[in-house]
Amino acid sequence: MSDSVTIPSEFQINSPLHQRKYLVKGELKEWTGKVTEVYSTISSTSDYAPTLLGSIPTMGEGEALDALDAAVVAYNKGQGAWPTMRVKDRIECMENFVAKMETKRDEVVKLLMWEIGKSLPDSQKEFDRTVEYIYDTIEDYKQLDRDSAKFEKNAGVYAHIRRGPLGVVLCLGPYNYPLNETFALLIPAIIMGNTTIFKPAKHGVLLITPLLEAFQSSFPKGVVNILFGRGRAVAGPIMATGKVDVLALIGNSKSANALQEQHPKSNRLRLVLGLEAKNPAIVLADANLDLAIEECLAGTLSFNGQRCTALKVVYVHESIAEEFNKRFSKRVDALKFGNPWDDGVKLTPLPEPGKSAYIQELIDDAKEKGAMVVNKKGGTHFDNFIWPAILHPVSKDMRVYEEEQFGPVIPVVTFKDIEEPLDNMAESNYGQQVSLFGKDVYALAPLIDALANLVCRVNLNSSCQRGPDVYPFTGRKDSAVATLSVHDALRSFSIRTFVASKDNELNNEILEKLLETKLSNFISTDYLL
Ligand code: G3H
Repeated sequence: MSDSVTIPSEFQINSPLHQRKYLVKGELKEWTGKVTEVYSTISSTSDYAPTLLGSIPTMGEGEALDALDAAVVAYNKGQGAWPTMRVKDRIECMENFVAKMETKRDEVVKLLMWEIGKSLPDSQKEFDRTVEYIYDTIEDYKQLDRDSAKFEKNAGVYAHIRRGPLGVVLCLGPYNYPLNETFALLIPAIIMGNTTIFKPAKHGVLLITPLLEAFQSSFPKGVVNILFGRGRAVAGPIMATGKVDVLALIGNSKSANALQEQHPKSNRLRLVLGLEAKNPAIVLADANLDLAIEECLAGTLSFNGQRCTALKVVYVHESIAEEFNKRFSKRVDALKFGNPWDDGVKLTPLPEPGKSAYIQELIDDAKEKGAMVVNKKGGTHFDNFIWPAILHPVSKDMRVYEEEQFGPVIPVVTFKDIEEPLDNMAESNYGQQVSLFGKDVYALAPLIDALANLVCRVNLNSSCQRGPDVYPFTGRKDSAVATLSVHDALRSFSIRTFVASKDNELNNEILEKLLETKLSNFISTDYLL
């Protein structure tokens, strides 16, 4: 292999994966139609060339409507086996699934690295975090069930209140967390008794292949349907039927808006959305600079800045801006770039072929309007990467200030008065999180009080992040609809529904018999162990 780059043997692509199966109505069907080739921007040879990883089906309206039909039939107007199943039995199916999933770790991690360029430790973390999320979801659902295993009585009316499914859920995940974020939608949607149609993101599609069989064999037919193809071709026609009850999407607000608009019955459609953000870091004059720089480094550049929670604009008090820029630049330029399996690698190839050119446009625009690239390596081009540029001073007329860059470029804005970042955040279309760096509690207290009303998580001397997954993940304005956490997601994908009966002899006798005979799966006071 004279012209090969060094790739550990366990990570080499020996033969491309031509994915031809899709899951509809409980069957893994063979696809014989058009296919799309999947390339990695990582080269296998020293002369740069994208690597062919395999191919995936290019599905269209026909297959999309078949999958929808399967989900509608499995829900069967609320009478389906899945939505009426005992919680205990649904949990058993999920336990089955996760046990099978765990056996696929190596295959999925390898594909995560090749398909989206995520480093080995981060790919492993994405897989493990997802498995943990599923186990935590099961535990939380048990507790939810235990809390509902009772009757209450108010004003002479007994009530047995539970959370029931919403119906058919269309799940669409993002390419930066093609496993974790997609499953953080899909798993709670399934376990709460909904039936689902799932289409993987534009990158990170092949990594679903090793899991198809686990989905097929763990759930009743029609509960999980998996399609491949472009969102427009597949998701659009499904929405247009008006038969979707929940649109669950982590991605871009433009796609979310377009899909919602296609649904003819807006009150039927519920939304669970995680959308863009432009999370700011605010570095106050008294901040511990070592700590602020460390956290800003992780916040702006983990996975090359391709995270919805990434710090996408850094406000620094003018009195410390020079020092901040100097030290921050050194740290950014000392990061290691390489392939995902390289030891100690922090920056990795960008999976979108056009991304470096887009980042370059943002740099050029900022430079034209008066910013400078502060760090030596900033903007250096590689075959599949552009070195993160720290841009300063950034002003509001620059594209990099306005657009969610979702990649390696760091706008630094200086401020004199704290009202400047606060006003900008209030004006912004986004409201997910903020990182606040400082020490003086008299300055921090009023800021925390105001910021908590502008975003949904104030990170004190810490970078922004979604995890730990037990914490609420949400946002204001264009950043999110509904809340996701292990606990909240179970609520977002269900609705409170109950059986009520006036306190009289006949009703009480019926309730007692229902409990005794266990004929109803809904009415149950069993304690789930
Ligand atoms: O892309 C957005 C993710 O929710 C970020 O999750 O903060 O754990 O990387 P993370």
